[in-house]
Amino acid sequence: SRGGLDFKVADLSLAEYGRKEIRLAEHEMPGLMALRREYADVRPLAGARISGSLHMTVQTAVLIETLVSLGAEVRWASCNIFSTQDHAAAAIVVGPNGTPEEPRGVPVFAWKGETLEEYWWAAEQMLTWPGEPANMILDDGGDATMLVLKGKQFEKAGVVPPTDDDHDSDEYKVFLSLLRRSLEETPGKWTAVAESVRGVTEETTTGVLRLYQVAASGELAFPAINVNDSVTKSKFDNKYGTRHSLIDGINRGTDVLIGGKKVLICGYGDVGKGCAESLAGQGARVQVTEIDPINALQALMDGFDVVTVENAIGDADIVITSTGNKDIISLDHMKAMKNQAILGNIGHFDNEIDMAGLERSGATRITIKPQVDQWVFENGNSIIVLSEGRLLNLGNATGHPSFVMSNSFSNQVIAQIELWTKPDEYDNEVYQLPKHLDEKVARIHVEALGGELTKLTKDQAEYIGVDVEGPFKPEHYRY
Ligand code: NAI
Repeated sequence: SRGGLDFKVADLSLAEYGRKEIRLAEHEMPGLMALRREYADVRPLAGARISGSLHMTVQTAVLIETLVSLGAEVRWASCNIFSTQDHAAAAIVVGPNGTPEEPRGVPVFAWKGETLEEYWWAAEQMLTWPGEPANMILDDGGDATMLVLKGKQFEKAGVVPPTDDDHDSDEYKVFLSLLRRSLEETPGKWTAVAESVRGVTEETTTGVLRLYQVAASGELAFPAINVNDSVTKSKFDNKYGTRHSLIDGINRGTDVLIGGKKVLICGYGDVGKGCAESLAGQGARVQVTEIDPINALQALMDGFDVVTVENAIGDADIVITSTGNKDIISLDHMKAMKNQAILGNIGHFDNEIDMAGLERSGATRITIKPQVDQWVFENGNSIIVLSEGRLLNLGNATGHPSFVMSNSFSNQVIAQIELWTKPDEYDNEVYQLPKHLDEKVARIHVEALGGELTKLTKDQAEYIGVDVEGPFKPEHYRY
């Protein structure tokens, strides 16, 4: 705590560098800046106390300051132990008008290279406000939502279950021990937060999946907006963002030549498509695994072999998981990999690759540098694992660039305004933003890129059955 502000970041002296990068990013985030202008007088988020859990990067810094300029109070943590950019975190704590000695910004609890214990500590700080509890959540992956809802569930039961050593991941054990402590120290804490929260807006595929599961079980205690499935989010960030940041991570981590190499990408959803395009663009020979015949057929039509991990892993130089599913690469798969082949994950959680199995296997770990480890098996063969199996584009590089995140985060801001200003219009369910708002976000970015839209004539609009001003597509259209 300094100057009355609570925070924990790596180094406040990085704030000036962070501020310079934030200024450059603002120019590349026209959607967020347009929202700041549109709502400058209205300040629709006045009164909102937003607890945010999302990679604390330069782009997120511009999001946070947009929320603040719309009237919100904000507390923030990262949603991944490796994804924080320490200069961005420092700049947000210091704020545009503060100094490292007298920070005047936003309480941030995030630094690059947290332990799991520190990660969940930071999550708790982000959700623990002085005075009244949080009343909005902005989530990426669902950890903040899970903390509140599980906390509430266990408070109702009066007990946190003991950990199951055989089945619980290390991460879940740390999470349960945090809940056990909070149940002892502040009974009713999470129930109070759950009751105060008007809604959550969720950023990513994995978090959205968790939200629909919670809603189906009847445990969703507040409305939710699925930001991921705005077209201007998942069809842009997940695909074009990844197309940029996947090879950025591989290059910064290893600097291995990608051209000519055999690459195996597990999952051909939005993220997998961006991964495949980015590696193929470097001249790699790309193979894809899929469970879904529709996505598999897309991969084939795009010119990529569809194979199984078992049949292809022994031949691959680079293996990337992007399924959002668990148990994709097992220890046996890793042992079958070529010497010094590279293994990384770009899906939200680290359970796509069996890191626990690798750690138990007796393989020797040689850390080349932070987030790059060579694991040497007993037979002398080794593999290079990026970011300990956590999302490598944020662990080894700086995540998606500003322009694409401007699309995603414009949807986030609009979703926050929706749930905060219209609490009576939403039940405890998962919603998507209406199409005209999706088109609004796209229009700003088309204009920023100098694209020129064709205007429908009234006659044409009637002929295809839409309004001259849009929306231009029916709900069932897939883009
Ligand atoms: P998606 O649902 O569009 O794609 C996942 C694909 O994996 C699907 O086509 C599915 O059929 C396939 N799949 C599932 N199980 C599989 C298995 N066992 N073997 C092979 N394929 C399998 O999801 P999306 O949007 O591509 O996201 C994937 C993951 O990436 C999610 O965890 C998401 O949260 C995360 N994400 C990460 C980003 C980053 O910057 N690192 C950005 C956006 C999303």
